Amino acid sequence: MSFVTKQIGSHEDVQSFLARKHGHFINGAWQSGGDLKPIAIKCPATGLQISTIESGGEIEIDAAVKAARQAFESGVWAKMVPVERARILFALADLVEANAEQISYLEALDIGVSRGLMRDIGVKLAADQIRYYAGWVTKINGETITNSRAAAPGREFLTYTVKEPIGVVGQIIPWNFPFGMALQKLAPALAAGCSVILKPAEEAPLTSAYLADLIAQTDMPSGVFNLVNGVGRKAGAALSRHPDVDKISFTGSTSVGKEILHAVTGNLKKTALELGGKSPVVILKDANLSEAIPAAARAIFFLSGQNCMAGSRLLVHADIHDQVVEGLVEIAKSMRIGADLENSYDIGPLISERQMTRVLAYIDTGLGEGAKLVTGGKRVKSMAGYFVEPTIFTNCSSSMRIVKEEIFGPVLTIQKFETEDLEDIAAMANDTIFGLSASVWTGDVSIGHKLAGKIKAGQVGINVHAAIDPATPFGGYKQSGWGREFGQDGLEAYLETKAITAYL
Ligand code: NAI
Ligand code: MG
Repeated sequence: MSFVTKQIGSHEDVQSFLARKHGHFINGAWQSGGDLKPIAIKCPATGLQISTIESGGEIEIDAAVKAARQAFESGVWAKMVPVERARILFALADLVEANAEQISYLEALDIGVSRGLMRDIGVKLAADQIRYYAGWVTKINGETITNSRAAAPGREFLTYTVKEPIGVVGQIIPWNFPFGMALQKLAPALAAGCSVILKPAEEAPLTSAYLADLIAQTDMPSGVFNLVNGVGRKAGAALSRHPDVDKISFTGSTSVGKEILHAVTGNLKKTALELGGKSPVVILKDANLSEAIPAAARAIFFLSGQNCMAGSRLLVHADIHDQVVEGLVEIAKSMRIGADLENSYDIGPLISERQMTRVLAYIDTGLGEGAKLVTGGKRVKSMAGYFVEPTIFTNCSSSMRIVKEEIFGPVLTIQKFETEDLEDIAAMANDTIFGLSASVWTGDVSIGHKLAGKIKAGQVGINVHAAIDPATPFGGYKQSGWGREFGQDGLEAYLETKAITAYL
């Protein structure tokens, strides 16, 4: 494995970007600050430090909220002519795409994702996400309401609604796919006319900082977008409880999601939560296995399983169980493990030593619970970074912790079923506190639709897993969260509806 920052060579701007001590982007300018110890940013593929960020807290959050409030109330963005606001967002999308090389280098260093994947797919998706919402800016409309009853004898009401931006929004994001995650939250909020304070994850803040530099090159007025770096318990907590923030949108762990709910009660902020998952991949016996098997492998091993939509629970019909297991083991064994700025790998590192330790502990738990390890299960000791082998357990049951809890690593559990009763199959798929994503694999699309209708998840794929598109709503049932991102639902999440009524 050859993964060193020197390889950036030709990208001098990236090199000097890494050398910066990243502060906070407040009111259109970088500011240093925070009396907390600066945070070393490590490359998870090598464990080596690649950059530094400052650690903000109450004071920096407060300054950012003031800037966002001032920008919002002045109307520079919220009341900007819609075509103009759209134009600025379209320009940002172009800038993102034009800097795909730099962004993908930074993301590869910061989280260990394959650079090619990030450049060709991740950055493009993020740019398209902005364009999708830029298109909405000129189409934010209320409606006229038909009275359901007489206002008074012989009198009628005219009622219409207008859509207004919610106001100042705090957005807290995790470390898996931070660049896409930032834009997934920013694009609809900015399209709606809100002002934003973004708090990136302390493990992977680099592409958010780069994004701030790109935003500074657009005509977006100062104070509309602000970024505060820092740890969750300080900067994140200060943002969630700040009395002048109107909404918090959070993606991360279910436990922190619950903490945020306590923090927002002070001023009853609107709250959107995108939390964990334990998404089932259900393979029926008539499925096309030449498609289902590689797709099931991708569903769990993509980004080493550090994906809220990861297909971490495989449910497979007994008749094809052995064939599916054999196919998955073969794929897992042939996966290239590594991380590199030039070549593509199938399995990269976990984000941190802490996450690796957590995943390895779950593997031990699985062994203790009597699940059968059929491949993987170990740290890759020959590598300095935080690599764990693609791991598969069979003989799993729904009472096991490895089946119930989100592992967020390359660990697949396989459960076998004999029934063909769709109610029973759905009950197995739904036997979880989560409900983010799911997929059903079958040769009979009509059965696929029937089963999809019975699964309690925000997104169900039929012969596809995790079909992300900016236009398709995404979010969780049950403890996977509150609210939806993406699509029109994702825009509405940043709008208030005002009803105006008059006697005619
Ligand atoms: P986390 O939930 O602690 O971190 C996510 C974000 O929340 C980060 O920006 C962090 O700084 C912030 N944060 C942490 N504590 C906070 C607080 N008290 N108030 C406000 N903000 C706070 O996630 P972590 O610890 O990095 O990962 C632990 C587990 O969480 C993972 O193993 C995985 O199971 C799950 N997770 C799920 C994600 C998803 O996409 N649904 C993303 C990341 C983690
Ligand atoms: Mg945490």
